[in-house]
Amino acid sequence: MLDIYTLGEDVLREECSEIKEFGPEIRMLSEAMLETLEEADGVGLAGPQVGVPKRIFVIQLRGEKPLVFINPSITETSIETGVYEEGCLSIPGVYHDVVRPVAVTIQAQDASGKAFTLKADGLLARAIQHENDHLHGRLYIDHLDEKEREKVVKAYEKKNRIRRRQKARV
Ligand code: NI
Repeated sequence: MLDIYTLGEDVLREECSEIKEFGPEIRMLSEAMLETLEEADGVGLAGPQVGVPKRIFVIQLRGEKPLVFINPSITETSIETGVYEEGCLSIPGVYHDVVRPVAVTIQAQDASGKAFTLKADGLLARAIQHENDHLHGRLYIDHLDEKEREKVVKAYEKKNRIRRRQKARV
C-alpha cells in the first residue's frame, strides 16, 4: 500500500514529468498503484497522488480489467458534454458535479512501454480526464466556480478535522 497524498500537498499541484525508462521499477509502481487503488476502493489513481510527480495513472472500473496509462495525451474530446458527480482519493469524503466532454481518445504507453490508442466514453472517459488532470497539477475542484469550490473545500476540511480527531483517539 502506498500513502495517498491529500489536498494541500504541493505534489498534487506539480506538472508531472515524462517516464523514459520502462524497467521493473515502473511495473512495480503500476502494480503498487493498482493495489492501493483497490484498497482505497477508488476508480483511478495518478502518480502525484502517491507522491510520484510522473506521467502515470491507473484506472480500474468494476468488473473491467485494470488499465495503466503512461505518458498519456488526450488527442480528441467530444463536443458533447455531460455532468457527473466526481470525487477524488486526494479529497476524500466530498463529491461534486463536474461538466466534461462525454467521450475522449487517448494515446499512452502501457507498463511495458507499448504505445496504444483508446477511444472511451461513459465512466471510463470521465475517469481518464480526471486522472489526466492530475498529471498537470489540476484537481476536479478546479473545474468548479469559485463559490462551489470553496463549499467543497470547506466541507472537506471539516470532515478531515473530524477524521484526524478520531484517529488521535484510537
Ligand atoms: Ni483524483
